[in-house]
Amino acid sequence: MALREILHYPEPLLKQKSLSVTEFNDELKQLAADMVETMYDAPGVGLAAPQVGVLQRLIILDCSGSDAPNDLLVAVNPELISGDGDSLEEEGCLSVPGYWASVKRYANATLRYQDTDGNVHEREADGLLAIGIQHEIDHLEGVLFVDHLSPLKRSIFRKKYMKMLREKEAENAEA
Ligand code: NI
Repeated sequence: MALREILHYPEPLLKQKSLSVTEFNDELKQLAADMVETMYDAPGVGLAAPQVGVLQRLIILDCSGSDAPNDLLVAVNPELISGDGDSLEEEGCLSVPGYWASVKRYANATLRYQDTDGNVHEREADGLLAIGIQHEIDHLEGVLFVDHLSPLKRSIFRKKYMKMLREKEAENAEA
């Protein structure tokens, strides 16, 4: 297992669509294992393959809490097959560090996915997991949570975020 580098906005690869997984081989299992290690290390509650630079339809989630994570979901070719109810919760993203915003999502979601052996499963979710599923599937379409903000909020985000990046770069240059 190995930690992978997490790509940050505005990395262009994060805007690309991921391809369906067709080979359930050791490479896929290795990628999933690396992503799990990377997510727990961050720490975060979800990670999608494009965030580590791999344009494949693979997401992982563990919304059980970072003190004692115990509900790992590894979903290959995940599909939202139904969603209902409204939810408006604050979200963050390992690819958009230091920024959080409320995003409108379904409150309940049913996920169909394959495991790393190719077996098909379904899982119903609510709460944080339902939100996480929608957030991570978005990544596979090249969509970040900030893309759901109103044009005004998005432009405020961009200004704040790019300013923060410039400050970080300046700090690094001094160090
Ligand atoms: Ni994210």
